[in-house]
Amino acid sequence: MLMARDMARSLDPVLFARDCGIEPDPWQQDLLRDRPRKALLCCSRQSGKTTTTAVVALETACHVPNSLVLIGAPAQRQSGEMLRKVRECHSRMDGAPELPGDSVLKLEFANGSRILALPGDAKTIRGLSAPALVIVDEAAFADDDLIQALRPMLAVSNGQLIALSTPNGKRGWFYEQWHSGDDSWRRFRVPATDCPRISKEFLAEQLRELGPTRYAQEYELAFVDTEDAAFSTAIIDSMFTNEVLPLWT
Ligand SMILES: Nc1ncnc2c1ncn2[C@@H]1O[C@H](COP(=O)(O)OP(=O)(O)O)[C@@H](O)[C@H]1O
Ligand SMILES: [Mg+2]
Repeated sequence: MLMARDMARSLDPVLFARDCGIEPDPWQQDLLRDRPRKALLCCSRQSGKTTTTAVVALETACHVPNSLVLIGAPAQRQSGEMLRKVRECHSRMDGAPELPGDSVLKLEFANGSRILALPGDAKTIRGLSAPALVIVDEAAFADDDLIQALRPMLAVSNGQLIALSTPNGKRGWFYEQWHSGDDSWRRFRVPATDCPRISKEFLAEQLRELGPTRYAQEYELAFVDTEDAAFSTAIIDSMFTNEVLPLWT
């Protein structure tokens, strides 16, 4: 039988987050409560996007029996890092559900739910089926093949998809969905100035250290041309457009 506190937790994910030791920021509360089927999080470094999504993962595993939660990222080191945050949240919960299976890349719950940290290589993840939740951390840096391999898995389960990242240039799946994707996405935009834990002094220091372009990318969510790219996006685009005259003759 569910106790009153468990009932309240399962009705309000913000209470669940507090039980994990996190007082969610307003946008974090929105993500937790609204549960959009498709969410894009374009957020500054250190804004708490990995942590909040880890809470969503844990909440799903606890409240949906036999659910499969998949964490993808450019590399397993990063998906494993999010799983570590899930484990941290779990360890802070009072009366947390038991974890009969707990390993570096996998959490297995007594209710049959599983959370897996995937490798970044798409070829190795085929065959997983019907996830309740798919997460792609640092999505702008992930291989587009990884996303293409994960998307069809959601077709049957009608599960939730959350892709989170800082920008990484004007290219790739995350950039395209953020700028040109349809409105089936709920978009969360969190520049550093919206994060109460990042001070003005720290940002001023980062601006000096990184220079304006990198700073704009990491903290102001600008999709800028990578500084070390041989050609800027505008030049590359013009090479694919017939109306533009050749730059070199
Ligand atoms: N709502 C919050 N309250 C307190 N600390 C938070 C909150 N959200 C995130 N943090 C902390 O901020 C730091 C950065 O969070 P993280 O999720 O790693 O950020 P990101 O993935 O956006 O770079 C971590 O130490 C995390 O525990
Ligand atoms: Mg992160």
